[in-house]
Amino acid sequence: MQEAVKIDSGRFQLNRLSPEQHVDSLEEDVYTGLLSRPRSLPPKYFYDERGSKLFDQICQTDEYYLTRAESALLKKHADEIVSTVRPTAIVEYGSGTSEKTELLIQAANQHYDWLHYLPLDVCEEILIESSRRLLDRYPWLSIDAWHGDFLQDMQLFNNSHTRSLYTFLGSSLGNFSYDEASQFLRDVRNTANDDDWFLLGIDLVKDHSILNAAYNDIEGYTAAFNLNLLDVLNQALDGDFNTEKFEHHAFFDIDNSRVEMRLRSCCRQTVTLRDIDLKIEFEDGEHITTEYSRKYTADSIRQLLTSTGFSPEHVYTGDNNEFMLILSRCLKKR
Ligand code: SAH
Ligand code: TRP
Repeated sequence: MQEAVKIDSGRFQLNRLSPEQHVDSLEEDVYTGLLSRPRSLPPKYFYDERGSKLFDQICQTDEYYLTRAESALLKKHADEIVSTVRPTAIVEYGSGTSEKTELLIQAANQHYDWLHYLPLDVCEEILIESSRRLLDRYPWLSIDAWHGDFLQDMQLFNNSHTRSLYTFLGSSLGNFSYDEASQFLRDVRNTANDDDWFLLGIDLVKDHSILNAAYNDIEGYTAAFNLNLLDVLNQALDGDFNTEKFEHHAFFDIDNSRVEMRLRSCCRQTVTLRDIDLKIEFEDGEHITTEYSRKYTADSIRQLLTSTGFSPEHVYTGDNNEFMLILSRCLKKR
């Protein structure tokens, strides 16, 4: 059930896609993930308020080149993107701080003195905080924010605006399995109208030492972000994970072309999640997989887009081919 709550004056609306469902699916996801081998946890639970703040700090580290590379591309090409699409609405999946999208919002203001922004995110705090910042800065903007899961709640999300620019930035597509990525892109295509456009930001395969460093920053924000997942479980399910007895481990897996993030048990230990009556025995060195970050090539991402209903029209990369922005037209629905 969808519950729409109006906060603030006419310019801001927050739509909640059932908060109850979130808790139920957490219990089920944790149960299934922790009992399977290898053990795993779904990455969306990284993003409580602290997790979102830590992610923002990761984005500012020297090693995490992705945000800088994507911002530079957007700074350079935002005007061209907006002139091509002429959107009346910008929809963004996994919007986070919305900082990069702000470049598109500013560029749109060259053409109109109004615009609708529809951010969707699983973290309600960041959604509200970012919306407030944007509304303060841009009095001509109106925001329809959606709190929900872009892998599960897509059919509940609706956008009545014409000529929309759909965006998915931060290489978040890389965090999906191949099947999830195809399904997600099909869902985006089905949500969109025939004359809408889709802007995707995706990280590319490169020197392994650069990839390994990006997910192992020296200041330890990535480690703290990864370990915070255990605190999220402790809080939500009355658990007793000791974050000092687990360590962050991230490495580029060449065969699968993806960075794998793990939490590794530093000793033999038993952890209890009292709310779901779950006791887990960890061997010394046993791990939980917490996230993948797939790295694409120009060809593999183009192929995925064309097979899911998009026609890539403009491809932007910097001089060093670090990162790619792809602006696609929606192929006509059959
Ligand atoms: N787009 C921003 C943030 C990327 S981090 C950027 O490029 O910097 C990923 C964002 O997606 C976070 O804000 C997180 O809360 C959100 N997110 C992660 N999993 C999600 C899910 N399943 N459904 C909706 N949002 C999700
Ligand atoms: N979309 C980001 C990426 O793949 C998410 C991310 C960055 C991340 N650093 C992380 C996820 C560390 C887990 C742990 O790069």
